[in-house]
Amino acid sequence: MQTTSSSSPVHIPNTPLPSVRGAFPYAGHRALVTGASSGLGEVFARELAARGMDLILVARSEDRLRALATELASAHGIQAEVIALDLGREGAARELHARCQEKGLRVDLLVNNAGFGTHGAFDSAPFARQHEQVMLNVTALVDASHLFLPDMLARGVGGILNVASIAGFQPVPYMAIYAASKAFVLSFSEALSEENRGKGVRVLALCPGPVKTAFFDVVGTKQAAVGPMATAEEVVLVGLKALDQGRASVVPGVRNWLQANLTRFTPRSLGLRIAGGMMKPPAAQGAGVVSARVTP
Ligand SMILES: NC(=O)c1ccc[n+]([C@@H]2O[C@H](COP(=O)([O-])OP(=O)(O)OC[C@H]3O[C@@H](n4cnc5c(N)ncnc54)[C@H](OP(=O)(O)O)[C@@H]3O)[C@@H](O)[C@H]2O)c1
Repeated sequence: MQTTSSSSPVHIPNTPLPSVRGAFPYAGHRALVTGASSGLGEVFARELAARGMDLILVARSEDRLRALATELASAHGIQAEVIALDLGREGAARELHARCQEKGLRVDLLVNNAGFGTHGAFDSAPFARQHEQVMLNVTALVDASHLFLPDMLARGVGGILNVASIAGFQPVPYMAIYAASKAFVLSFSEALSEENRGKGVRVLALCPGPVKTAFFDVVGTKQAAVGPMATAEEVVLVGLKALDQGRASVVPGVRNWLQANLTRFTPRSLGLRIAGGMMKPPAAQGAGVVSARVTP
């Protein structure tokens, strides 16, 4: 898998002025990456290792994490630890923080990346899966931020990179919890970024459109994906560049940026109808449904 990309997506500044100046001090520091066993998280791990960061790799798939840790430690001469954990469980972030403390592992960059989406009507989706979505996409991210941030502030250096989505820019019927969870991540991250401006800790919401990962296999449909998908490498590089620039949020790609921001100029009722029409499961679609498409 590549760790760099020749194509560099254009992106338009859409957040306040940088709160910190200069690139993030990657080399010699340690990153904790959740969801590092595949997709964006794996690419974050590869890219951060290439920049000289020690790593803590977190996900449920222990074998995949161990293989990645061994490979990256040997390729880049870094330390790579594995913590196999289900972050969708109550108290998971507290357990993660405690295990880092037990091992004496300081975290300088927290990449809250683990997450998943589901598709279908809210009332008919299995309750446990919906609940897990909130626990992973929102609760674990908030808890981990709360637990790791104080040490970063005490040291006057650090970063939290939260993976949101362009789905966070508007409500998405039939992916109601997913879009709402990403709206939470976006709002929460931007607010934290401002709270911590001038304190040496950067907080960023990375808001990708569709990316070529296992994400849509988990969702179970590509109905929410439109247009060419970015590679995980492209998205990760945009995210790390925005982190270097001290931005509060970034949407990779002009097309995604337009889609995310055009919702500001569309009446909410119309945006809802369009999104509902495009996201309605095919079996449930009837006459008169508005046809359009959005992305995750
Ligand atoms: N791909 C896209 O189009 C897209 C677009 C916008 C935003 N995003 C966001 O990007 C992030 C990464 O997704 P991806 O695209 O890289 O998808 P992915 O390839 O499916 O990766 C998801 C990662 O999350 C981990 N994970 C899932 N449930 C977990 C749990 N309960 N506890 C711990 N780890 C768990 C998975 O590892 P295990 O299964 O081993 O636990 C995996 O490493 C997500 O937050 C997603 O919402 C993706």
